[in-house]
Amino acid sequence: MKLSSRIHAMQESPVRKLVPIAQKVKQNGKKVYHLNIGQPDIETPSVFMEAIKNYDSRVIKYSFSQGEPVLIDAIRDYFKKDGIIFDKDDILITNGGSEAISFCAIAICDPGDEILVPEPFYTNYNGFTGESNVNIVPITTKAKDGFHLPKKEEIVKLITPRTKAILFSNPGNPTGTILRLDEMEMIKEIAIEHDLFIISDEVYRGMAFDGLEGLSMGSIKGIDDRLIITESVSKRYSACGARIGAICSHNKGLTKEIMKLCQARLCVATLEQIGAAALYQLPQSYTNEIRDEYQARRDVVYEALQKIPGVVCEQPKGAFYVVVKLPVENAEDFIIWMLEEFEIDGETIMLAPADGFYATPGLGIDEARIAYVLNVEDMKRAMYILEKGLIAYNQR
Ligand SMILES: Cc1ncc(COP(=O)(O)O)c(C=O)c1O
Repeated sequence: MKLSSRIHAMQESPVRKLVPIAQKVKQNGKKVYHLNIGQPDIETPSVFMEAIKNYDSRVIKYSFSQGEPVLIDAIRDYFKKDGIIFDKDDILITNGGSEAISFCAIAICDPGDEILVPEPFYTNYNGFTGESNVNIVPITTKAKDGFHLPKKEEIVKLITPRTKAILFSNPGNPTGTILRLDEMEMIKEIAIEHDLFIISDEVYRGMAFDGLEGLSMGSIKGIDDRLIITESVSKRYSACGARIGAICSHNKGLTKEIMKLCQARLCVATLEQIGAAALYQLPQSYTNEIRDEYQARRDVVYEALQKIPGVVCEQPKGAFYVVVKLPVENAEDFIIWMLEEFEIDGETIMLAPADGFYATPGLGIDEARIAYVLNVEDMKRAMYILEKGLIAYNQR
């Protein structure tokens, strides 16, 4: 029996593909500091479980396909604090930010259509688009420019009659870059001039360091009909397993059509939506605390990286990732070696190879992504292991 060419064309997650190796070495007793995946160690706020415990129903019923009204209202209030007003029918609850982007790709694009994405990008964008035969066209950004966007003409050159949208995460995964206002205005101009949708993936919003504001694309005027913001509780509220996200758009035609996809999968888990509503109601002070914690981790990691000979990286400004150029030929080979061959007192680290975050072949081969999702002490230890590991690897 033959499987579809679509499934064969889809890439294995480069973040998860080395997991079996890590599992094996862990079974043999080695401790692995996981810096390869964006799974924060921060406790999910207790209001999540409390809201679920207080949920008064003898039957766990299907929720509405659009989502639980209490969650929709909580998300509307979250945006309202920044002057971004959504109607009730502008918000569709999804199974994480992941499903939100998949649904957008299906709704906007026909097979063979194209979406522009600044690279390096969150590698699962390949999956979210590949499943509907949509092609990602990369806009290459460079570490030396802080992974900021190139000039308008460089981006416009990539637009074809098949280009339907521009998709980006802000703050950026894996770069930690925060878009400047002038870049957001440029995206607006390009989208209007070339009639494109803008998919602004804001799952890391609120995690902007050094006093940067980290604006939502929703603050930019004049793009109401073409802007889609995708949301999630995974990162901001450290609730990755809740699988709650949302599509937020003023384009009523679009949300009406995407409702068909929501109906086809019936609904999102009822209880998790109740918990998520409580998360969105947390005060700004909660998000500020989380931001400060990640900034402290960023500082530890960046300071340590700067002291390691041959390592090159830009200081990330948001989210909880940094892309580093390592003094090795092949980062994946180094990462596997660290797992299988290296340890200090029974401990090692796991990074994510960065080539999977690029669509342009050959880019990122000597780069890795570090997720600073562990506490400051663990991050210090992990950076020490990285430094010693690099020396040992290059002396083999
Ligand atoms: C940029 C970005 N967008 C979307 C997602 C998906 O998040 P969710 O857990 O909400 O599906 C992630 C997860 O790591 C991400 O980094």
